[in-house]
Amino acid sequence: MTLASTGSLLADARAEKRAVAAFNVITLEHAEGIVAGAERAGRPVILQISENAVKFHDGCVLPIALAAHAMAEAANVPVSLHLDHVEHDGLLHQATDAGFSSVMFDASHSSYAENVELTRRAADWAHANGLLIESELGQVGGKDGVHLGAHEPGARTDPDEAAAYVASTGVDALAVAVGSSHAMTKRTAGLDFALIEQLRDAVLVPLVLHGSSGVPDDALAKGVRAGIVKVNIGTALNMAYTGAVRSFLADDAKAVDPRKYLESARSALTDTVAQLITVIS
Ligand code: G3H
Ligand code: ZN
Repeated sequence: MTLASTGSLLADARAEKRAVAAFNVITLEHAEGIVAGAERAGRPVILQISENAVKFHDGCVLPIALAAHAMAEAANVPVSLHLDHVEHDGLLHQATDAGFSSVMFDASHSSYAENVELTRRAADWAHANGLLIESELGQVGGKDGVHLGAHEPGARTDPDEAAAYVASTGVDALAVAVGSSHAMTKRTAGLDFALIEQLRDAVLVPLVLHGSSGVPDDALAKGVRAGIVKVNIGTALNMAYTGAVRSFLADDAKAVDPRKYLESARSALTDTVAQLITVIS
């Protein structure tokens, strides 16, 4: 099967009132396990590589991206490649060489005006180079001038501001702050479903949920019914992966061949992917 484009996966999902899962790839085994999980579930999937993962690979995006690209092409379900949470233009501008069809440009830590300015510039570049661009708008909230990060508990995206932001920047998908928070290891996040519906009605582009590992299954499914079209998941895979390695090594203190424990890690990750994909699509 040929590499899919994120744009077509999102359009199909939206038309069918489901979502596409986008899973974070850090190592080769992540990409292999994600593709295997999507194939088991018989659903499309997005392999996403974040700027932080690129930093882990010594700042080199090509080796891991080209490997993921090859796996996407060999998969028997549609798979697209997405470059995630990019803050620096240097990496953004490598997206086309590495086979990504979409990128998430993240200026959510900036003020509203700066977020618009930086994102509009990134969107102009992405569109000139045939890429779909996602970006993030979080509510700058809190009392007494305390700014919440876009995904801190309590942060919320304002629907009117979101409509103005999408019109000013020209982005094709919008990551919204609706109750989830990055890197949660317990699934205790509560989503604001009424806000998701308001955002869905306020902006024409697909809505993206980040920090989905902390959201329970029933809330993920309900969030999709309310209007979420792309569901980003990372930590849940790392918990499965690391948990399997930890338990393998606890059982066999003499193990030295990484294939032994990475096989169990990859297989645990595959189970998690297959289960989560089924919840949202
Ligand atoms: O962009 C990536 C996701 O937002 C991952 O969040 O690690 O909390 O699932 P998570
Ligand atoms: Zn994220």
